[in-house]
Parts: sequence; C-alpha cells; structure tokens
Amino acid sequence: MAKRFGPSNIAVIGMEWGDEGKGKIIDFLAEKADFVARFNGGNNAGHTIEAEGKKIVLHLVPSGVMHKNKLNVVGNGLVVDPKVLLQEIGFLEKNGKKVSPDNLVISENAHVILPRHIEEDKKIGGKIGTTARGIGPAYTDKAARIGLKFYEFVDDAVFKKRFGEEEFYQEYKGYASALRDYVGDTTLVINKALDNNKKMLFEGAQGTLLDIDHGTYPFVTSSSAIAGGVCTGLGISPKKVHSVLGVCKAYNTRVGLGPFPTEITGAIGEKIQKTGKEFGATTGRERRVGWFDALIGKYAVMVNGIDSIALTKLDVFTALNKLKICVAYRHKGGIISDFTTNMKILQNCQPVYEELDGWWDDLTKIKSYDKLPNNAKKYLRRIEELLKVPISIVSVGPKREQTIVARSEFLI
Ligand code: GDP
Ligand code: IMO
Ligand code: MG
Repeated sequence: MAKRFGPSNIAVIGMEWGDEGKGKIIDFLAEKADFVARFNGGNNAGHTIEAEGKKIVLHLVPSGVMHKNKLNVVGNGLVVDPKVLLQEIGFLEKNGKKVSPDNLVISENAHVILPRHIEEDKKIGGKIGTTARGIGPAYTDKAARIGLKFYEFVDDAVFKKRFGEEEFYQEYKGYASALRDYVGDTTLVINKALDNNKKMLFEGAQGTLLDIDHGTYPFVTSSSAIAGGVCTGLGISPKKVHSVLGVCKAYNTRVGLGPFPTEITGAIGEKIQKTGKEFGATTGRERRVGWFDALIGKYAVMVNGIDSIALTKLDVFTALNKLKICVAYRHKGGIISDFTTNMKILQNCQPVYEELDGWWDDLTKIKSYDKLPNNAKKYLRRIEELLKVPISIVSVGPKREQTIVARSEFLI
C-alpha cells in the first residue's frame, strides 16, 4: 500500500463559543500522536473524553492523557490554578491514569492563578457570565507585567517574596513543591520535537468566538483561542503548523451572555438541549442552543485557516422533521452575508434560514460515512459547500469509537 503523507501536526480549534467536542476529537486522534500540547486558557475549559468505559472531564491536563507514552504539554499561553491541576492529577490517578513528569510538563512561563484572581473574578465576572475561575484577572496581571510565572512559583525564595497572600502561603507552598518537577522549558522541548518530526496535536481551549481579539467582545475569554494562539501560546513558528482542524457541532451552543442570532427558544430548542445534554462541563450551566450558523462557520474558516472540519453531535439531530442552516443575516432592511464581531450590528441581526429535511435513524452505531442516512449526508454536504472546506470527521456519539473518519488525508 502506498504510504500516506498526511500532516504530522495539527492544530485542533473550536469554531464557535467553545464546547464543540474538542476533547473527544483530540483523544480520538491522540493515539497516532507523540505530543498533545495545550496553548491557551485555563480551567475555564472542560474537555470531555468517554473512552475505556470511563467519562473524564479535563480542565488543564491535555487530552492525550488517556493514552500511554504521550507527552502532554501545558504551554506558556495558559494561566494555571495549581490547586486545580493537582486535584486533576489525583483524579486521573484514581481512574488508573498515571501522571508524572514523564508524561506531563508545564511551561515555566505559564502564569499562576492566585486566590485573589478568583476572588476578583467572582466579584466582577458576573457582568459577562465568566466561569469565575480567575481567568480574566490572571491574564490582566500578565498583560500588566505583574503576574507570577511558574518558574518563580516553584522557586521558594522568589515565591516567598512575591506571594502577597499571607493566609494562603503555606497551602500554596505545598502546591509549588508538589508541582516543581513538572515545570520545564516547553518551548525548547516542543521545537526540538518538531525538528525530529514528532507528531503533535495542538489543543485549543474555548473557541473562535471566545477569542480575546477575534471573538464577540466583550463576551469573550481573555486568551487567544484561534489558530494564531498556537504560535504565541507554545513558542513555535507559524510555518511549523501543518494543518488546522476546526471542530464544530451540527448546531451551535453558547454558555454565558452575549448575542446569538440563531438561538432557538421553545420546544425544539429544549429537545436539542436535552438530547445533546447541553449543560456545561465546567460550571454545569445550561448551554443556549441555536441552528448551525454558516456565517460563523465561514468566519472561523477564515481567521483560523481551517483545512478540514470535525463535525460533532450529528446524532443529536435524529428525529427532527426539519433542520435549519443560517445562510445570511437580515439587518435593518438589508442583507449581511459575512459574520461581524461588531456588537452594535450583531445584536440587531436576524437569521435567514435554509431548510433541509431531517432523518429518523439512530446514528450512534454507524461506523462509515456511506452508511449515514441520505438526508444526513445532504446536511453535511451543504455545510461543506457553504464553508468551502471538507468534513474529515463526523462524530455520532460521545464515545471514542463513535467517530467516523470521512477524509483521512487531513488527519495525522
Ligand atoms: P470541548 O470543551 O470542546 O472539549 O467539549 P465539551 O466536552 O465541553 O462538550 C462536548 C460534550 O458533547 C461532551 O459532553 C461530550 O461527551 C459530548 N460529545 C462529543 N461529541 C459528541 C457526539 O458526537 N455526540 C454526542 N451525543 N455527544 C458528543
Ligand atoms: P472549552 O475549552 C464554553 C465562556 C464563559 C464566559 C466567557 C468568559 O471547554 O470549550 P472566562 O471564565 O473564560 O473569563 O469566561 O467564556 N467560556 C467557555 N464557554 N467552553 C469553554 O471552554 C469556555 N471557557 C470560557 O462561559 O461566557
Ligand atoms: Mg468544554
């Protein structure tokens, strides 16, 4: 058989407002990777993996951890709550997944989330519906150049001088010593590995519309969630990212506040929310549900340079008579065909829909693209046409094996 020359590293990026199923897709692809490297965010993320009879929600540890012999990297672009990271390591060990400096390394340049960041987020985050994990305040300190980096945190003398929160000193000193051996120069580790043609997945947290620069500001997170964030969040050249895999759901969801043109209210919205179990993996909050928005899809393809798409949750659409795809917005008597992050415009946009027929077959046991019902294939093809990008993976359930590879040439 001819050798297949696919990309040897892939950035996996959320195309919407997060929770697209990135964790599941990364876990599925990780079997063939050597490294899985997170490049942004913190424990605002909740990446769910269902495999080997277990359901695991990861907040900080990269989604390669279910597999043996992978190096999981927490990049410089993250803000890390040391207490949460240690809890997660403990939780994984209870679930039979050994975590040690052999399979997990934390960038010495990642920033530490401190108790005061969490307190502040609880006070002010409500206005935009943050996860209250201290993310915004920790990135604020980073940008203001007063943040605490991991190499300082694990250095006793520096930590003592810099850590201002007396009542937490002993507790955090303990976290620092428990994490000391995990801390390293991840920029060097990753670049050396790339030079040696190691296979790598760059794991995005959140999604394109939550990006600090290119999202629906101010209803965004405080980090770079788009593909560009891979370079700054890990210290690699854009020339080293071979391929970008965008992850999107068959429909859209959003946790927290902010405009959502295709939001569905009423019985159909509730049905999708219930069937899709649309409740946040981090905070348990209800996720708002909407029809697939092709303007958002095209926007995500543009700003990330998406080469192919992993479309998740197609199974959730079973038993709906009609499906809708938003193909334009109506705005003050005119028609808009490109997404905009200008809130003044976006909050006054109404969706223009195209309708497609649904299907009644259960998709959750289907193993190949050909076996999908015709109407499901029509739905997928329409999305490919509108976004002008092929769908390489179709996900038909939360479990690792409920994954259909449609175009393997885009995958590692
Ligand atoms: P992430 O943040 O992008 O990793 O996504 P989350 O883990 O927060 O949310 C995705 C949810 O959908 C999780 O509960 C997954 O187990 C689940 N999921 C992923 N893919 C599928 C799918 O194809 N079908 C169904 N029914 N559930 C899925
Ligand atoms: P994953 O990686 C969905 C949302 C919050 C809030 C806004 C700002 O699991 O896809 P923050 O705490 O970051 O300051 O909150 O961003 N948000 C997410 N929504 N999935 C996520 O991550 C999210 N991370 C942050 O709900 O609206
Ligand atoms: Mg999530």
